[in-house]
Amino acid sequence: MSPVIEGIGLGLRYKLAKETLEHAPPELRWLELHPENYMQRGGRFLSVLEQARERFPLVTHGLTMGLGAASPHERQYMEPLRTFLRDVKTPWHSDHLCFSGSAGVMLHDLLPLPFTREAVDTAVARVKEARDQLELPIAVENISYYAHPGAPEMDEATFLLNVLEGADAKLLLDVNNVFVNSQNHDFDPRAYIDRIPVERVVQIHVAGHLIRPDGLIIDTHGEAVRDEVFDLLDYTLRRTGPMPVLLERDQNFPDFALLAEEVKRLDAIYRAAVGDSGLRAAVGDSASRAAVGDSGLRAAANGKANA
Ligand SMILES: [Fe+2]
Repeated sequence: MSPVIEGIGLGLRYKLAKETLEHAPPELRWLELHPENYMQRGGRFLSVLEQARERFPLVTHGLTMGLGAASPHERQYMEPLRTFLRDVKTPWHSDHLCFSGSAGVMLHDLLPLPFTREAVDTAVARVKEARDQLELPIAVENISYYAHPGAPEMDEATFLLNVLEGADAKLLLDVNNVFVNSQNHDFDPRAYIDRIPVERVVQIHVAGHLIRPDGLIIDTHGEAVRDEVFDLLDYTLRRTGPMPVLLERDQNFPDFALLAEEVKRLDAIYRAAVGDSGLRAAVGDSASRAAVGDSGLRAAANGKANA
């Protein structure tokens, strides 16, 4: 049985691995990793993975599939991925609602999809394929984007909701991406969060972003999380209840002590939003699960979600 995963997590980045494993604050409860960084590799990478697995529950987050891609997923990626996901016992696998390549050419970028009915149908097919091939629940992540490709037939939230419903998928809700898009494309981020079907959310991301002099906000994962994003996380958690929340930091790494401070601040926000009852539920106290009701049970059930 998969472990229950909730509370604050951090990405297992190779450059941070030693400090993460040696100096993790007690508030750090789980780790997320990109399979692309560890699959079919040996030596130091394997050793880091083994040490991480002994100490923390692991959740996987892919960078390559592009759940809106026009072409079916590549077998040479999916087959080793399925083996890897089984080995690390992830309760679900997530990737982005975007396309990352075309006609067999990998662009290594998260490119936005047109918000059209046709793109919904394509993404639904890709998510179902991924679920069938990986034999795991698939969580779809909302991405940040800076321009609409073509004329939209619906807004971003409607597009996301249509894909989730069509594929009966789970959601990795990136709160920073909601905030970044809301500022760049002028919508109310709380109204977006209000539309999210909370029963589909299995995980949340938060990250830092950069505000350019011209006002455009860039989702860099290279800065400290801003107060506006902490506030939106608080608002989101009060809707979702107990949930795994990941601090994404992928570049411009600060001293590990500063990341640990961010983890602690996130934990304080988390506890204030979901209450200690949620944390007790997450460690398997059946009496407190009954006390917190469905929201606590949802976190407990996230390892056997059916998407
Ligand atoms: Fe994210």
